[in-house]
Amino acid sequence: MPVDLSTTICGQTLTTCVYNASGPRTGSSDALSKVASSRSGAVLAKSATVEEQTGNPLPRTFQADGKGSLNSEGLPNKGIDYYISQNTIEESMGESGKPYFVSISGHNLADNLDMLKKIDKVSGISGVELNLACPNVIGHPIIAYDFEQMDSVLSAVAKLKLKKPLGVKMPPYFDGPHFEQAAKVLNKYKSSISYAASINTVGNALVIDTVAEMPAINPKGGFGGLSGPAVKYTALANVKKMRDLLDESIDVVGVGGVETGEDVFQFLLCGAQAVQVGTKHWIEGASCFDRIVGELEVLMEEKGYKSVEEFRGKLKPWSKAGASKSRAAKKKAGAGRSRADQAKIPVGKGGILPTMIVSFLLGLLLATAAFSALGGEVSMGGFVPFGSLLKIHDELEGARMGPRKKKVKEL
Ligand code: DHB
Repeated sequence: MPVDLSTTICGQTLTTCVYNASGPRTGSSDALSKVASSRSGAVLAKSATVEEQTGNPLPRTFQADGKGSLNSEGLPNKGIDYYISQNTIEESMGESGKPYFVSISGHNLADNLDMLKKIDKVSGISGVELNLACPNVIGHPIIAYDFEQMDSVLSAVAKLKLKKPLGVKMPPYFDGPHFEQAAKVLNKYKSSISYAASINTVGNALVIDTVAEMPAINPKGGFGGLSGPAVKYTALANVKKMRDLLDESIDVVGVGGVETGEDVFQFLLCGAQAVQVGTKHWIEGASCFDRIVGELEVLMEEKGYKSVEEFRGKLKPWSKAGASKSRAAKKKAGAGRSRADQAKIPVGKGGILPTMIVSFLLGLLLATAAFSALGGEVSMGGFVPFGSLLKIHDELEGARMGPRKKKVKEL
């Protein structure tokens, strides 16, 4: 029997528990239709403002090193009317039958309330994600880092008595009391909140271009939201904490650094009801949903799980028995590898050859020095001077690492 990857959020069934985050590749019906045609369980549009806007000056995104990305887009979007028009919904969703969600990030409370009232009247929208965590709008601190402001925003929203389910996008927290205060505010409005999505980007990170001695992106002095694998562990901790602290009527949606089916599995173990993919969708395109969902399926089959319900929220406490089971599995996997693969283990991605060459040259230098110290004569042609040796090492490292930085096209 095939594994059941379905889940529910906002009272809607998602055929797979993986879908896109609001962010890059979600700003137009063309982009959204690609998500709808993939194995994504739902479609979520880009955070909208009341009016269309172009966002911050370019360049405003940077793909740092494969481990993290930086963005300070400043909410470029086509305006809320575009994302809630029947035309956009039809063009985006086609015959997919999947839930369509919109996201809003108004410049102020009045804007958010106006947009929510508008959205509530539109058919074909399964829910709305209110962004309490955008770090990139100049002069607007992150709402959910100011618990009083967060409380008053949610109080005003609750008074609207919306018919449509409401999700809230949360920033990352890093300290116990902050998790508790945030959860307390959300729980206060539990009758109005369907889910909390943790986490938005880690705000105000800085990537430096060493050659130019300047920031890698232009807006906000180079400060932008960090995303991608670098934030996955923070995201997992936030999902786990939120799941532990929130009322059970509020679902937790996991987001942050998800790249593989195994990542999704880990978020589900921490209690996520569904998992969103942002940066990897930006880099890889909508086919990432097919790959990630396929990987989750294989992992679940290997582990003998038939549905996500069977393991969701069931992260076990650390134990000696668990650690030795894991060690034994790693050893077995290592023994099963080909000799070539095994050879790669101690030297990382680049393979063993560059390391062998460098070791040989270092050995030669030491032998030469020893020979010299013992009174032997060495002509300049007979050994490699130390400076050149370091250069060779650098070049070999360069060849192993590939280009240090890879810029990704603005999307
Ligand atoms: C932007 C960044 C965010 O993290 C977000 O949640 C919404 C918008 C942006 O810069 O456009």
